Amino acid sequence: MENKKEKIILTGDRPTGRLHVGHYVGSLKRRVELQNSGKFDEIYIMIADAQALTDNADNPEKVRQNIIEVALDYLSCGLDPAKSTLFIQSQIPELTELSFYYMNLVTVSRLQRNPTVKSEIQMRNFEASIPVGFFTYPISQASDITAFKATTVPVGEDQLPMLEQTKEIVRKFNATYADVLIEPEILLPDNKACLRLPGTDGKAKMSKSLGNCIYLADSEEDVKKKIMSMFTDPNHLRVEDPGKVEGNPVFIYLDAFSKQEHFEEYLPEYANLDELKAHYTRGGLGDVKVKKFLNAVMQEELSPIRAKRKEFEKDIPEIYNILKQGSEKAREKAAATLDDVKSAMKINYFEDKELIKTQSEKYRYEE
Ligand code: TRP
Repeated sequence: MENKKEKIILTGDRPTGRLHVGHYVGSLKRRVELQNSGKFDEIYIMIADAQALTDNADNPEKVRQNIIEVALDYLSCGLDPAKSTLFIQSQIPELTELSFYYMNLVTVSRLQRNPTVKSEIQMRNFEASIPVGFFTYPISQASDITAFKATTVPVGEDQLPMLEQTKEIVRKFNATYADVLIEPEILLPDNKACLRLPGTDGKAKMSKSLGNCIYLADSEEDVKKKIMSMFTDPNHLRVEDPGKVEGNPVFIYLDAFSKQEHFEEYLPEYANLDELKAHYTRGGLGDVKVKKFLNAVMQEELSPIRAKRKEFEKDIPEIYNILKQGSEKAREKAAATLDDVKSAMKINYFEDKELIKTQSEKYRYEE
């Protein structure tokens, strides 16, 4: 049995595209900090290809090709295979097996009420044609988390309903069989602006299909172009007009990325973000000036990541090895948990003869 005081992280991303700055401030940056804090006994970072296939069944090519992109994003942000186990979900068949048993602990109506599933069904126009695999992905996510006995799951706010679902499954399992699963805690970003970074067009969510993302792998020029054409307050037409900072993506990005030092370095005429916001609100501050500042701030954060990516891109076979070794290690852990689960359910028949025996003496002798 595991020592329950161990602190274990599990988290991951669907490889449906390169990771963007929303992933970065929403979770990736935090993971690296947690990794380097030395406070965790084990850290698992999963590329959730099997989950990505639940709504990309007809496009395995896309999922496959993005595995390496996501791995490159991870490594260039500072996830270190010596400290964190990076692995590919589909290579851990134990996860599927766990899901099959957990499915018996969850009702259809409970899944229908899951807000993430609900909104994603709308977003993808699934309506009446939801694939069963997609519908049940909250259960598979519970398997991902519990297989590693994760205590801490650093993710974005959109994953909250998944964590709730996981906790319910854990409680139900432990109450029904035996106390073997760990209830995980979600770890959300402290900074509110990081909870959900809007798209560059001001839409609530960054999404590849909307073309409103700034990617970690974007070139310096691309980042600049995207920032300089960002949506701001549509009523802020002339510099002297008063502007709105609430809901204005440029200021939300500044909330997420800017630090005190950035003002001293790039915009010394303002003491801090509050002063900049106050000037914008009052009127007399142009969008271009604010955007140029944002560009400087974001380039400072993104350029080391970009440079590291270039290095890692030179040795793709090494990335392959990292993922292969990580997947082997992850599989051992998941297999140990699956053993615990099967023992708790008393379906580990071939480990204990007593588990399978006829229930009726009469039947046995009268035949
Ligand atoms: N659903 C997550 C996302 O879309 C990816 C994911 C799959 C995940 N399994 C997980 C995240 C387990 C945290 C824990 O980004």
